[in-house]
Amino acid sequence: MTAALATSDLSIRFGAFEAVRQVSLAIRPGARHALIGPNGAGKTTLVNALTGSLKPTAGRIMLAGEDATHLSEAQRVHKGLVRTFQINQLFANLSVLDNVWLAVLERNRRTGIFWRSARADRAALDEARACLEFVHLLPLADQLVATLPYGSRRLLEIALAMAARPSVLVLDEPAAGVPAADSEAIFERIHALPDSLTLVFIEHDMRLVFRFAERITVLVAGQVLTEGTPADIAANPQVREVYLGRRGAHA
Ligand SMILES: Nc1ncnc2c1ncn2[C@@H]1O[C@H](COP(=O)(O)OP(=O)(O)OP(=O)(O)O)[C@@H](O)[C@H]1O
Ligand SMILES: [Mg+2]
Repeated sequence: MTAALATSDLSIRFGAFEAVRQVSLAIRPGARHALIGPNGAGKTTLVNALTGSLKPTAGRIMLAGEDATHLSEAQRVHKGLVRTFQINQLFANLSVLDNVWLAVLERNRRTGIFWRSARADRAALDEARACLEFVHLLPLADQLVATLPYGSRRLLEIALAMAARPSVLVLDEPAAGVPAADSEAIFERIHALPDSLTLVFIEHDMRLVFRFAERITVLVAGQVLTEGTPADIAANPQVREVYLGRRGAHA
């Protein structure tokens, strides 16, 4: 089967420091794939290269079987590769609904629907509302993002990603900064996204990783230590030693 997203021997250097070292991954279509590893392991750097915000030093990136190594970030979005960030990227002074509405309009513009008409605007608004309904934020549609609780902001980011209609969604710590009690609700919504959508997520909370991932890649010092099912990873003594054992569940 052609991987939805794959890398071969991907390396990323910052000067003399190699943050990602010869990483080869193959993520199947529809996967719920977690990327874990201690702080500084290179997870965000790898994701930055996958989505095109950072140029790899060596290696290749394949998107649905096509070489995407040299595509710009915008070109990758156009091909369905969308991300959310470890730090949020919302328009704080706009309403919840306007944030999603702008994301829908942006997708329309990108896919060649430049014309604005009352009807197209209404369709985009309906779609934005549907995205908000999915993440249970419709009751807060008119609230300014600046006044929104942090957990709701993170849910809004998922709605924004949905508005881009991705085929592969990469999430960098989608529940970062959210109290543990609320992070599960965020992952529950991520998990409820369509099965056809390929999900790759970075997460530190092992409870969430083991609950929501089908496959896990463990990155340590820029290299893949191992990859497997949650059961494989839980039973792997190297993982326990390097990652789980040292600082408990929250590396
Ligand atoms: N632009 C940069 N220039 C130099 N070094 C960098 C740069 N970005 C990241 N690094 C270094 O690369 C390594 C990997 O960083 P990265 O942010 O990818 O880790 P991470 O696995 O996402 O960690 P965390 O779990 O803390 O988010 C770190 O040592 C970091 O200091
Ligand atoms: Mg990171």
